[in-house]
Amino acid sequence: MNDNLHTLRCFGCGARISGSEARPDFRCADCGDLFEVEYRGWANRKDQNRPNAGALKWLWRERRCSGELLDRSGVWRFRELLPILENFGNAVTLQEGNTPLYALPRAGKALGLDQLYAKHQGMNPTGSFKDTGMTAALSVARERGFEWVACASTGNTSAAMAAYAARAGMRSLVLIPEGKIAWGKLSQAMDYGAVTCQLNTDFDGCLRVLLEIVREAPIYLLNSMNPYRLEGQKTPALEIAEAFDWNVPDHLIVPGGNLANSSALGKGFKEMKELGLVARVPKISVIQAEGANPLARYMSAPGNKEFKPVEAHTRATAIRIGNPASWKKAARVVEETGGWCLDVTEAQIAIAKAELGAEGLGCEPASAVTLAGLKKLRAQSAVGDGETVVLLLTGHTLKDADYTIDFHRGTLLQPQEAAGHESEIAKLRRNAISVDATPAAVLSAMKDVPA
Ligand code: F0G
Repeated sequence: MNDNLHTLRCFGCGARISGSEARPDFRCADCGDLFEVEYRGWANRKDQNRPNAGALKWLWRERRCSGELLDRSGVWRFRELLPILENFGNAVTLQEGNTPLYALPRAGKALGLDQLYAKHQGMNPTGSFKDTGMTAALSVARERGFEWVACASTGNTSAAMAAYAARAGMRSLVLIPEGKIAWGKLSQAMDYGAVTCQLNTDFDGCLRVLLEIVREAPIYLLNSMNPYRLEGQKTPALEIAEAFDWNVPDHLIVPGGNLANSSALGKGFKEMKELGLVARVPKISVIQAEGANPLARYMSAPGNKEFKPVEAHTRATAIRIGNPASWKKAARVVEETGGWCLDVTEAQIAIAKAELGAEGLGCEPASAVTLAGLKKLRAQSAVGDGETVVLLLTGHTLKDADYTIDFHRGTLLQPQEAAGHESEIAKLRRNAISVDATPAAVLSAMKDVPA
């Protein structure tokens, strides 16, 4: 770990420590809050450590044609903005990042938006945005000589951690809530050789247990309280800015669970502005599921606000989190950028997911909250007519195939959840049809399905 170029700054009390002084749970010894990585000299225009914006843009573009392993990673291609390693040769990479930015013409037309895009982070090596954070933080663990890494997870973090640990020849421990994660994700942790413990509790309970473990044993914590995870997870912000030729979109809409990703992307845009890479930042909005909405509740409460954890329930299991660790960071990003935090219902999530699927862009239910949230923001005129919007899709559709099949079979939602949405749902459902093994029967079945 390179302690010369960065410090850890407490988000609560502002205390600064070096990276090697961090406690195993990455909480501030004085006030208990989380840290964020701060780079020396970036704020000062005359400082010799401050990277040069024009040179960086050129260098990063050149690296896209490079055959070097590090340059082929969409995270380490931007390594000047995450100088956290002593030696970049220690980076553990699966060539993550460089994910596609897709136009969404049909959803855009329905919403009256000409410029609607999806940045698909599900197109990462293990199928979720977690890979970008994992390559950064696990590389720090390797450089610091740890043998074991661990996380509590709703599934994607564990899949990513297990894969990167396997690449590095390290051991990994996964704690997951029993029966509450999608099979695709559980199968990945097994495949990549993690020690996978299913605990009879929820995500928040798993995290509590893990924090006690890392205080006792020399195991490196890879949950998103680890500030190095966020350094990797900020790089999609750089990719988005680069894709728009350094003119950022008006809005970025992100799902909210443990609330690290929105925090990381906000940090990415803020640093780019500080370094003169972009002239402004997008409004960043966070969307939660109605049954797991502590930030949405907090931000919509008038007056003296108090953050209250909730008992989380949603079929979007990736974001079934009632006590998000990074809520303060995310709240600040939403407030500072002028975005919103909203929640959406189970039916709105399922419909949005099917609409994205119908554009050829499958995603996880947790990712679809972004389109569902955009519809609400549009209805409230929070997103204006000519504005450019990017939805951040966080996970691949194959992560949770059961959810998709249940939707198309008509067994996902209870009638009271679907009430008022019946005709929208009927138009989107494409259940598999059992027909006789004759051309005539197949041709006739085709006629019965709406266009
Ligand atoms: N989308 C997906 C697909 C996720 O897996 C997660 C979080 C989120 C959105 C929310 O991101 O937590 O940074 O606000 N999944 C974690 C996990 C918690 O354990 O895989 P966040």
